[in-house]
Amino acid sequence: MRKLATLATLAAFTAAFAAPAGGPALERRVEETLSRLTFEQKVGQLWQGLGRKVVEPASGDMSGEKLKESFVMDVRAGRYGSLIGKRGVENYNIIQRAAMEGVGIPLLIGNDMIHSVVTTYPIPLALACSWDESLWERVAEAMALETILEGCNWTFAPMLDIALDARWGRIAEGGGCDPLVTGLMGAAMVRGFQGADMSDGLHIAACAKHYVCYGASLGGRDYNAVELSDDTLRNTYLPPFRMAVDAGVATIMPAFHSYNGVPCSMDGYLLRDILRGEMGFDGMTISDWGAVSQLIQHGTVVDGADAAAKALNAGMDMEMVSECYIKNLASLVNEGRVSMKTVDDAVRNVLRVKFRLGLFDHPEIDAAKVGAAVDPAANRALAREAAQKSIVLLKNEADALPLKSGAKVALLGDVSTNDWQMLGCWSTCNLSNFENAALLDGLKADGVDVAYTEAYTLTGRVDAAEIEKAAGQADIVVAAFGSYWETTGEGNSSSKIELPGNQLEVARAVKACGKPLVAVVFGGRPMAFPELAELADAVVMAWNPGGCGGWGIADVLTGAVEPRGRLTVDIPRTTGVCPLFYSQTTTGRPVVVNKNNPFGQRFTSCYNDVEPSALYPFGFGLTYTTFEIKNEKCGIVNDAGGAQLVAVADVTNTGKRDGSELVQLYVRDKVAKIARPRRELKSFARVELKSGETKRVELRVPVASLGYWTKGSYIVEPGGFTAWIASDSDSGRPVDFNLDPEIPAK
Ligand code: GLC
Repeated sequence: MRKLATLATLAAFTAAFAAPAGGPALERRVEETLSRLTFEQKVGQLWQGLGRKVVEPASGDMSGEKLKESFVMDVRAGRYGSLIGKRGVENYNIIQRAAMEGVGIPLLIGNDMIHSVVTTYPIPLALACSWDESLWERVAEAMALETILEGCNWTFAPMLDIALDARWGRIAEGGGCDPLVTGLMGAAMVRGFQGADMSDGLHIAACAKHYVCYGASLGGRDYNAVELSDDTLRNTYLPPFRMAVDAGVATIMPAFHSYNGVPCSMDGYLLRDILRGEMGFDGMTISDWGAVSQLIQHGTVVDGADAAAKALNAGMDMEMVSECYIKNLASLVNEGRVSMKTVDDAVRNVLRVKFRLGLFDHPEIDAAKVGAAVDPAANRALAREAAQKSIVLLKNEADALPLKSGAKVALLGDVSTNDWQMLGCWSTCNLSNFENAALLDGLKADGVDVAYTEAYTLTGRVDAAEIEKAAGQADIVVAAFGSYWETTGEGNSSSKIELPGNQLEVARAVKACGKPLVAVVFGGRPMAFPELAELADAVVMAWNPGGCGGWGIADVLTGAVEPRGRLTVDIPRTTGVCPLFYSQTTTGRPVVVNKNNPFGQRFTSCYNDVEPSALYPFGFGLTYTTFEIKNEKCGIVNDAGGAQLVAVADVTNTGKRDGSELVQLYVRDKVAKIARPRRELKSFARVELKSGETKRVELRVPVASLGYWTKGSYIVEPGGFTAWIASDSDSGRPVDFNLDPEIPAK
């Protein structure tokens, strides 16, 4: 009955809010509002204040907080355009009521709902490994509703940074190393957060971040400088943001770092020429935390006034938390360093988002109606589904998995009973809707005969005697490896990505007992664990799987569900090979590996002490069955759908269990004006196959997508290409095809 009520509520509620007309009608409302603002009120719209400063101290949890009277007066006067932080529905409504009674402009109230609000889903890097657009959208939509009930109408997500370097702690927050996967996930999450109509009172504004190429910071060190060519910027780092803009993302957050010497927060080339001029973005930009004032530390401005002038003139609409705008814009306009038009245009962008979000039409949250649309049990089921689909099976030998029914399982390692460690970075939003999510809980819930012994911690002691005793009493050992999630996320770059502590001692101790070992690896980044992979009979990459993560992992280990995850990053063999990514260009001396030179032949682009390949490559993931891809064919067609590359192949389930294969299409441009990637993902499709079943899979991509940027132009060149229809970025047979000159690229 609840489901029906929810659907009815949703329909009624959505109908109640007529979407503000877009286009001229919307612009008229923007102009009308702008025209009645004082200069001070305009400046107020360009500032995001810090939510935790506006409540009386020690006023308990969010619901019991009392807003400072002085703050409410300031809101009424129009001194705040926005707040960061969640203050609960009651305070949200007090704030909005004061704003509407006074200046008549509601506030944007935002927070970092990245993968966790009340329900915690797998970290984005894990979610990406599901390669499931529907899942990404459903998770975002569920988070939007919970976000509203936290007293926010805006989230600073999705994070779209392409991450090629596992040392960078923020690799956990995005979609991995590939522009297509990251862009599809970002666009799906924008659709989920914002809905078809962002003003329906059930959705929130999204924020694509961090614009742009933040993941390319030197040394994998957070906030560090980025130096890369305009071609690489356009071919690798911009595409996900273009996909988010095309999906209608309401806001964009420029990144902290400098790009070729110019901090993104004051780079008019990025913020105006590309973002607005080329991509047509007409929402608003919000600085990162204090990023405008940090221009001083960059050494590219003299003081706060100079920072305000350069940021606003470059196209930074709203300043997060620091106060360069509110303290200096009056004098800057008087001195002519910032024009009134620049101020007005920034305010227009802010007002446009507020109108699109419907805030003028319904400034307050109706908690009863939004609450009726939230189903905590359904969200936990969604979190469990997300965990199941995010887990990647990397190795499975000696028939280790799925666990045999009735088998005695010894479970080891401190993380196995630690549900907090399932959550991951940016999970501090709210943790009430997760329940006993650890691996031990999941295995018990799935009816496994499991006995837990800590025996070791990830970074500390290993009790070999306890391991021997536990393994001796079991048929198989499942052990938790990896790193604590607190070593990833913002400000958490690591100089080593090998397993910390003495974890290999654990694996050796188990193998010495002659029992099969299933290694479950937790963490927010790819780690280098070749020795563990060698010792273990099975390896599962569990990432930080969220508030129902233990259940999801157990469902996969027991075979209740098939493993479906595929990597969206390469797993390196050592720290030293970072950055490592499948889509690297070749070189004039491509690596030559042969039985005499496993590390690679001298005088080719290899290391002399480690194999050049990924331990596990992008796109890789095993299932409990096996597949064969054959009869691959590729060609160019030019039909009603325009000029397209069509790739077909027969996929057979050659194993004993039903399962799904993720068929991936990679392409290489064999001869181009600039060196092109050895392979680039162009499309993918999941195909469900019963044991023994064969299906023909067809993948189509526009010929236009075979082009690339160089010297500021996007070109599609005729000539020879190679395609692979494969199970990952390292497998498959090459199939050549030609792009003839007369084929139109459009
Ligand atoms: C942080 C992060 C950004 C986040 C913002 C607000 O420093 O860089 O991702 O959205 O501040 O918390």
